[in-house]
Formats: sequence, C-alpha cells, structure tokens
Amino acid sequence: MSKVTVVGAGNVGATCADVLAYREIAEEIVLVDIKEGVAEGKALDIFQKAPINQYDSRTTGSTNDYTKTANSDVVVITSGLPRKPGMTRDDLIETNAGIVKSVTENVIKHSPNAIIIVVSNPLDVMTYQAHITAGTSRNKVIGMAGILDTARYRAFLAEELNVSPKEIQAILMGGHGDTMVPLPRYTTVAGIPVTELVAKDKLDAIIERTKFGGGELVKLMGTSAWYAPGSAAAQMVEAILKNQRRVFPVCIKLEGEYGIDDCYLGVPVILGKNGVEKVLELDLNAEEKALLETSRGHVKEVMEVLNKLGK
Ligand SMILES: NC(=O)c1ccc[n+]([C@@H]2O[C@H](COP(=O)([O-])OP(=O)(O)OC[C@H]3O[C@@H](n4cnc5c(N)ncnc54)[C@H](O)[C@@H]3O)[C@@H](O)[C@H]2O)c1
Repeated sequence: MSKVTVVGAGNVGATCADVLAYREIAEEIVLVDIKEGVAEGKALDIFQKAPINQYDSRTTGSTNDYTKTANSDVVVITSGLPRKPGMTRDDLIETNAGIVKSVTENVIKHSPNAIIIVVSNPLDVMTYQAHITAGTSRNKVIGMAGILDTARYRAFLAEELNVSPKEIQAILMGGHGDTMVPLPRYTTVAGIPVTELVAKDKLDAIIERTKFGGGELVKLMGTSAWYAPGSAAAQMVEAILKNQRRVFPVCIKLEGEYGIDDCYLGVPVILGKNGVEKVLELDLNAEEKALLETSRGHVKEVMEVLNKLGK
C-alpha cells in the first residue's frame, strides 16, 4: 500500500494532493498543515470528488499531527511562504528555513525511510536544509523545480510552434531562479532539434521568458503559481512509487558531478524507487558551463546565508 504525505495544504500542496488522488498515484494521501482544520477540510473536499471523478485513493487531513503521517513512502514539503510581487525567492529564506527544518524533523521521526521532495522556496537551499535535517542519503532528499521550469519552457515553445506541448522534449539545469540554465542544444520537437524550427532571436526570447516565468505569474496573481508546481511534484512522486526510472531535472546535492562539490543544483537524473537512481552528466560546452557556474555561485551564496542563520 503506497502512502504519501503532503505537508502544507496551501495552493501547491492541495493541488499536489488532488493530482495524487485523482490520478491514483498513491493509495493513501495525508495532507498536513499548521492552520487548524485547513488540511482536514481540503482532504475531505478531495475525497468527496472521488465519486464524481471516479478514483479510489483515500485522502485525509491533519493539523500538525505527524503520527498520522507514519510510514509514508514519499513526503512532499510545500509548507512556507510564497512570493509576493517584488520579492525574490531568496527573500523567503529566514521564515521558510525554520518551517522546513521543523517539518523535516517531524516527518523523519515518523517515516525514517521516506523519500522527501522539497517544493518550498528558495528551492535549492530549502533542499539543503531538509537534507541536513533529515540526515539521510542525498538520493532521498531532493527538490522540485526543474520539471516546472522545463514545463514552462516547453509550453512557450509549443505556443510559438503551434504544436502539442507533448511534442517538446527539453532539459534545464541549475538553480531555481533567474540563473537557471535552459539548454537549447538538448531541446527537440518530436526529435527535431528546436534550432531547426525556431529562429535564434525567438528562442532567446523564450529562454528569457522562462527564466522569469515564476515572476510573470506572481505579477499577474499577487502570489506564486500552483497548478503546474503541484502537478510537477506529483509527477516526481509517481516516478518514485512506480519505479518508472524517468529522466527529469531534479535538485540534488552534487558530489563532484559537473566538477561541482557540496552544492544543491538542478541536474538531469534518473528517478525511480530509491529516489535519484543516477545523476546524468552531460558534456556541456564552454557557454553552458559558464552559465552553470554562475548559477552555482548564486545558490552557494544563499547556502552561506542559511549557514549564517544557523540551520
Ligand atoms: N519549487 C517550485 O518550483 C515552487 C513553485 C511554486 C511555489 N513554490 C513554493 O512553495 C511554497 C508553498 O507555496 P503555496 O503557493 O502553496 O503557498 P500557500 O501560502 O498557499 O501555502 C503554504 C501553506 O503552508 C502552511 N504552513 C506554514 N508553516 C507550516 C508548518 N510549519 N507546518 C505545516 N504547514 C505550514 C501554511 O499554513 C499554508 O497553508 C512557497 O514557499 C512557494 O514559494 C515552489
């Protein structure tokens, strides 16, 4: 029986729980929040949708009672503040680091073998926080950002070419922020290199829009996105529970890959029953290496801020 806990019953967490339920990715889903009644209410609402949308997954909620999360196979952490207009993801560090730390302590106490997927921002550094708090191996504490950033890039390309978004395959690396590294060299449209179909100036504009894709939505809505982020986290859960060995960009602690040590960054990985089964190392060209180095430098700076806060 597969059991998944989603911590944070806000926009992203509730969406993730909903996708996990209606797509029957997990048999049992526990939604947890600190706000009295919110997780119970949203879980009940999702369960009451089951007869309409025809699914068997069972969703329950809990206000901060982690005994109900015991023996989860996967835990998704979405608790924390989202951005408001004018804020960067890094502005959230102080508040969210404390939340991610206490949540991880509770989670690991009741589910010591769980694979943890972090969603809270600033993503790469919150993955760092969760990893050191959990004290488990790096393949089991990972961050969701790359699937979302790649999905935004793929959606913009599908719009530009007027083709199905399903036809766009792409990979993106680096931190979850403005220094992310889209890789046009590894972007195809049903196997056709994207550079054969989209002019350079158009492609450059799409890459720029992707980098600020999160900010575009914050500006429109006054808070950050949730449909695509929640679905992206659920897709990672699915790859793990079904041992799909899918290739996704995922945030993980690098230990020498790409010549980078002790930094949490998005890289292509194989995702399966053990979490990250393998980090894939691409042969980056000089320009791509330079972009990745900039991204590494930025994430490392924010990791230092966390170190100074005392983790
Ligand atoms: N990684 C990504 O790509 C990505 C994408 C979107 C959002 N995010 C981040 O995800 C987080 C959640 O975003 P959201 O839009 O769902 O925010 P939200 O405000 O809608 O929900 C956050 C929820 O966390 C809960 N919470 C706060 N402290 C808690 C605690 N200690 N224990 C349990 N629950 C607690 C709040 O009560 C709230 O319900 C934010 O940090 C946001 O920046 C990341």
